[in-house]
Amino acid sequence: MPNDVPYILGHSQAELRRLMLQASIIQPITRRLLLEAGLKPGMRVLDIGCGTGDVSLLAADLVGPRGAVVGIDRSAEAVAAARDRAAALGYGRVTFHQAEAGAYDDPAPFDLAIGRYVLIHQADPAEMIRAAAAHVRPGGIVAFHELAVGGKSQTLPLVPLEGEIWDGVTAALTSVLRHPDAGRRMVEHFHRAGLGQPTLFCETPVGAPDTPIYAWLVQTLHSLLPQVERIGRPVPADLDTLEERLRAEAAAAHSQVMAPAQFCGWVRLPAEGREGVSDCE
Ligand SMILES: C[S@@+](CC[C@H](N)C(=O)[O-])C[C@H]1O[C@@H](n2cnc3c(N)ncnc32)[C@H](O)[C@@H]1O
Repeated sequence: MPNDVPYILGHSQAELRRLMLQASIIQPITRRLLLEAGLKPGMRVLDIGCGTGDVSLLAADLVGPRGAVVGIDRSAEAVAAARDRAAALGYGRVTFHQAEAGAYDDPAPFDLAIGRYVLIHQADPAEMIRAAAAHVRPGGIVAFHELAVGGKSQTLPLVPLEGEIWDGVTAALTSVLRHPDAGRRMVEHFHRAGLGQPTLFCETPVGAPDTPIYAWLVQTLHSLLPQVERIGRPVPADLDTLEERLRAEAAAAHSQVMAPAQFCGWVRLPAEGREGVSDCE
């Protein structure tokens, strides 16, 4: 699957730490996706674009000791970080490989393939969904979790500094991504992938001014700074105190802080000559 969209967030050590912070905020949503889609103990799972391995480790907890998880990522740095984490945490049934989604070759089909925050980075999200389905057995599950990119902050009362940061982050992302709206177009992309209509839900992380959402936002800006500067957008002054100032503005206004909407969609592939998915209990 050729993919000529540059991966704009990079894989610096700071970005890898940002992925883990992001995961701690959205992990309950991915967990709901996996459970509602039908993940069961004993299943074999493929995590596409695994980054630092948060979805892989979550899936490993859910499939238990008789299940297995493979995480793949095109980035050597991400795979190394994921391997180190899994080893340090004692996850024996999780393996990681450096591979492009469309080129990965595994001898055995998976019960479930999932990709989180990968569709927006593809030249064609439907190609990514098709690549995921190609790794899944008949009757198995293909699931994606994606965030909404773009639009105005939903935080109220408004926090002007937050709006400024979101504008910079959005401008940087949309200057490179071809499908920043992939999360809002899962029905279309699953259809184009030939998989029919996905089951969907949407959740939005929300918090008071002390929410980790602000650390997530500021760290995202940090990872995107080279692109923010490249496209000539203003960089907020005094980056070191940005998070603190955001919180102070939000606290003064008693704001309810909203993260971007999170879209989750999944399908079960047609079973060959049998009903539904066999559970691996
Ligand atoms: C935003 S990160 C998300 C990481 C992880 N899924 C998570 O939610 O924490 C996206 C990751 O997908 C990887 N990626 C993007 N497109 C890919 C592709 N076509 N094949 C393999 N990895 C890909 C990137 O290298 C990056 O590490």
